[in-house]
Amino acid sequence: MSKFMEWVDARFPATKMWEDHLSKYYAPKNFNFFYFFGSLALLVLVNQLLTGIWLTMSYEPSAEGAFASVEYIMRDVEYGWILRYLHSTGASAFFIVVYMHMFRGLLYGSYQKPRELVWVFGMLIYLALMAEAFMGYLLPWGQMSYWGAQVIISLFGAIPVVGADLTEWIRGDYLISGITLNRFFALHVVAVPIVLLALIVLHILALHEVGSNNPDGVDIKKHKDENGIPLDGIPFHPYYTVKDIVGVVVFLFVFCFVVFFFPEMGGYFLEKPNFEQANALKTPDHIAPVWYFTPFYAILRAVPDKLLGVVAMGGAIAVLFVLPWLDRSPVKSMRYKGWISKLWLLIFCVSFVTLGWLGVVPATDERTFIARVCTILYFAYFILMPFYTRMEKTKPVPERVTG
Ligand code: HEM
Repeated sequence: MSKFMEWVDARFPATKMWEDHLSKYYAPKNFNFFYFFGSLALLVLVNQLLTGIWLTMSYEPSAEGAFASVEYIMRDVEYGWILRYLHSTGASAFFIVVYMHMFRGLLYGSYQKPRELVWVFGMLIYLALMAEAFMGYLLPWGQMSYWGAQVIISLFGAIPVVGADLTEWIRGDYLISGITLNRFFALHVVAVPIVLLALIVLHILALHEVGSNNPDGVDIKKHKDENGIPLDGIPFHPYYTVKDIVGVVVFLFVFCFVVFFFPEMGGYFLEKPNFEQANALKTPDHIAPVWYFTPFYAILRAVPDKLLGVVAMGGAIAVLFVLPWLDRSPVKSMRYKGWISKLWLLIFCVSFVTLGWLGVVPATDERTFIARVCTILYFAYFILMPFYTRMEKTKPVPERVTG
């Protein structure tokens, strides 16, 4: 075996890569619960790729055949139902895991210097993930697939001058049709997954260049032993590879429970109107995107003007990109920030979840009012950040991790 590895290593840096990224990558020894979600995101990614490939074998990307082919997968293809439920539940699981992963970043200031690029690559992944989910949702060609895509694509029509031409260009037709379905299929199955994979490689390379942050936000490279190994670091393999198995097993229990017993999740993971084939002449009573898009959809609806609504919705995502430059705090982790930062993070999370709920339910006057308040609070969290993070009194950060 060692002779074989010598032969390989002389031609390809296999052992070097293994050591750099696993057996000699020193991660802080105080990773907690929130650090499970990076490896879980990788797990869900693999699930989506594998189940997606097998679904493609029986799916038919045409306006005439798509809906029926999904029914065929569910009823006639051997284990087709489990492939589909793994994929549809996986889409929601992806967003749950990624939202927890991003929340960890906010909590421990993982986006701060020197990890700005880790965060920016993460945000690009998030954008690609949203595009991937949006286009995947059209494929079953149900009523919500059709009308959800109709609403979102028509938003581009609000852009002055080029709006109308742009929507036609995206759809490839005067309305959503089999042509739109074909291009979304190509993008969902080939183009976006390639972009996602490339971005994930960049994300992890950027992280391993500077090293992982940790719940204390202290730099473990400041204290090294005589061999240059951080005193508070442990090799990622075997310590975290084994620890992550615990997260994987717990996650798979919950995930399988949903797949086997609640694959529709009360209409949140698979929406009820999507059990009816797309019909361009029949608008569903209530059109709402899938739950993971609804915070941004609620922001769109909260603004009375269509163009400004689109700008606010885009701005709500764009502002996350510049987060590393908004946080001026001398400390990273929420553990050592002041109470103003803690309060604002709480306000931000409550606003985000409330907006998510408001985006699911039909709008009323009271709900629109709440959506406006939450939208203002959402943006205030970012806009005021340079001020409150500089002003507030922080606690002294320990020299070494506290466990
Ligand atoms: C497919 C989606 C993603 C995958 C597979 C992924 C994977 C990972 C992995 C494996 C790690 C190292 C382990 C860990 O710290 O948990 C990591 C760290 C990190 N990720 Fe992601 N990630 C994804 C999306 C995102 C997104 C959307 C963001 C934020 C916009 C993000 C921000 C970060 C940050 C800041 C770190 C460093 C955390 C620290 O050191 O404290 N990631 N990611």
